[in-house]
Amino acid sequence: MQTTPRRVTIQTLRQMKEKGDRIAMLTAYDATFARLLDEAGADVLLVGDSLGMVIQGHDTTLPVTLDEIAYHCRAVARGARRAHIVGDMPFMSYQASIEQAMINAGRLMKEGGCHSVKLEGGAVHAELVRRLVSAGIPVMGHIGLTPQSYHQLGGFKVQGRDAGGRERLLEDAKALEEAGCYAIVLEAIPADIARDITAAVSIPTIGIGAGVGCDGQVLVSYDALGMDESFKPRFVRRYATLGSTIKDAISHYVADVRSGAFPSDAESFTVSENKATPSTMESAPYSTPASAKK
Ligand code: KIV
Repeated sequence: MQTTPRRVTIQTLRQMKEKGDRIAMLTAYDATFARLLDEAGADVLLVGDSLGMVIQGHDTTLPVTLDEIAYHCRAVARGARRAHIVGDMPFMSYQASIEQAMINAGRLMKEGGCHSVKLEGGAVHAELVRRLVSAGIPVMGHIGLTPQSYHQLGGFKVQGRDAGGRERLLEDAKALEEAGCYAIVLEAIPADIARDITAAVSIPTIGIGAGVGCDGQVLVSYDALGMDESFKPRFVRRYATLGSTIKDAISHYVADVRSGAFPSDAESFTVSENKATPSTMESAPYSTPASAKK
């Protein structure tokens, strides 16, 4: 009998930091990937606004809407049984007012089924973090390169290298911890600054392009799996080359369809078999990751 694994909680993540166990986080956008990443042991699945780029094909994360994040959260929540699921607050869903941010974060928890939310920015959001946490909504912070500020930052650039950069990042991290964040993403900052921040706060830091001194790491799953052969920034390690695997597989499929090699007799139905099993096939017509829940 398959047992339900114990869910990773914000308390689990803090204990992992205390014990020195590194946290493995990845982005997920649909139920099938969520099931695979969950079964492979990912501790945290982020329904990131990076979906605007890797799923929707935009150049930045700015066009992503709250409804879209909620939709993808629902799919991920159906696929994952163990991982902690984080819903990313998209651009302008929390910047205009604390009230609007509270309502929007609540929607990701209620409608999206996620277990916490993430928002970009440091000390400037301390009051919002306090309010969300006091409403029972756990918050993951995100400092360093904050892609929603793409135009303000002048592009996707490593942060913290300028004068005062180290101090500002440290202050932001401490302000987020004090406000009640349970973890902080450190994106694209020098490794020694990330190490100092990690030592200075008691909550886990999760790095992306921030070196090995963080309490955990996060990658965009499509980048880690090599879905786009032309995209290989320095901080990404490719654990597979699925882009070319998928293209190879599909070119075989296309050739088989064109030549008539697919489907074979064994992949087709006959009248007599239909009589034996009049109303059902051997399985549902399409695979569903919900089968992982049985
Ligand atoms: O949107 C996202 O995927 C993220 C991660 C890169 C941290 O914010």
